[in-house]
Amino acid sequence: MVNVTFVLASGARLPVEIDEGESAREAALYNDVPGIDGDCGGACACATCHVHVDPAWIDRVGRLPPDSMEGQLLQFAEGATANSRLACQIRMTDRLNGLILHVPEQQY
Ligand code: FES
Repeated sequence: MVNVTFVLASGARLPVEIDEGESAREAALYNDVPGIDGDCGGACACATCHVHVDPAWIDRVGRLPPDSMEGQLLQFAEGATANSRLACQIRMTDRLNGLILHVPEQQY
């Protein structure tokens, strides 16, 4: 199992566990984390799973090349920053155990 903590816009922290190989989107949805909709089912087509990777973790998760499909989609996400990623594209591995993701105040 891999641990990931979602920090809501309110400041509330929601620690959850997920099997290795699942995505951070699935970690959120399986544990009813509010603010992560994931409307397209994880197909990198909706950006409703937008998260801000905690600065302490961004190098390990990886920043996006802006010309990637994910980067292009994030250009339209509300409040996207240099630390933005789509949770459906973050594959949870032991290397990301302890990951902290901040949930935006809104996805639209
Ligand atoms: S679930 Fe749609 S882009 Fe991540």
